[in-house]
Amino acid sequence: MKMDMITNVNEYEAIAKEKLPKMVYDYYASGAEDQWTLKENQNAFSRILFRPRILVDVSKIDLTATVLGFKISMPIMIAPTAMQKMAHPEGELATARAASAAGTIMTLSSWATSSVEEVASTGPDIRFFQLYVFKDRNVAAQLVRRAERAGFKAIALTVDTPILGRREADIKNRFALPSHLVLKNFEGLDLRKLDKTSDSNVASYVAGPFDQSFNWKDIQWLQTITSLPILLKGVLTAEDTRIAVQAGVAGIIVSNHGARQLDYVPATIMALEEVVKAAQGRIPVFLDGGIRRDW
Ligand code: GLV
Repeated sequence: MKMDMITNVNEYEAIAKEKLPKMVYDYYASGAEDQWTLKENQNAFSRILFRPRILVDVSKIDLTATVLGFKISMPIMIAPTAMQKMAHPEGELATARAASAAGTIMTLSSWATSSVEEVASTGPDIRFFQLYVFKDRNVAAQLVRRAERAGFKAIALTVDTPILGRREADIKNRFALPSHLVLKNFEGLDLRKLDKTSDSNVASYVAGPFDQSFNWKDIQWLQTITSLPILLKGVLTAEDTRIAVQAGVAGIIVSNHGARQLDYVPATIMALEEVVKAAQGRIPVFLDGGIRRDW
């Protein structure tokens, strides 16, 4: 299939499978363990149907939305995904330009293969930064400061990853970041205290030192080191939503990490209603659809 013949966004997946090395494709495409949640992310959407209303004047439509005070062209943003230069030499820079052209916000992954400064240099658009917190808190603090300085406008703190999900394809493929690429946001940071694993597997190198003790009390710590709004990415229940509101976060991203973390959790679209109800309109709630179809 030719790229210029794409008529449906789902076709990108088949083209990616054709073009990318298997290890790279599998890293992007797979979910954790049995991939039940990966399938459910898609299936749950397909169980929800439109109830079309008729004879409404639709000659003028306005899809614009406001996110943390920033206007976007439509209620769709670009979620953080890691290591985009494995797919294309332009990687996150191309994504940043696409977000700009579409008039929306991209969130850059901590594990990006382009730095916050490089992404910022593509133009003055609004961007958010996704954050993992490591045992060495100083690493997170340095990342946040760097993102702030580069003009990023919010922190999307991933809260569903005390350990990295068990992605079986990555295990089988012995996944490692190709040697010509680096996780650019960690370059130049003081990583001395991260206990480097002996293998060259960058994912285990970066994921190994996640701070597993990180908990609600530590949200306060993050609030003291940044004035940026903090979004919690990875909330799936009403209970956690109520605590998040109490903790004073700026918003919630209903996410199951694209089904890459805990398997057998609900599809995000199924969790959305209880989270929205529990938030009681006090903080905004965003949805990470987490859909891939190749399973
Ligand atoms: C990174 O966040 C991943 O899910 O691989």
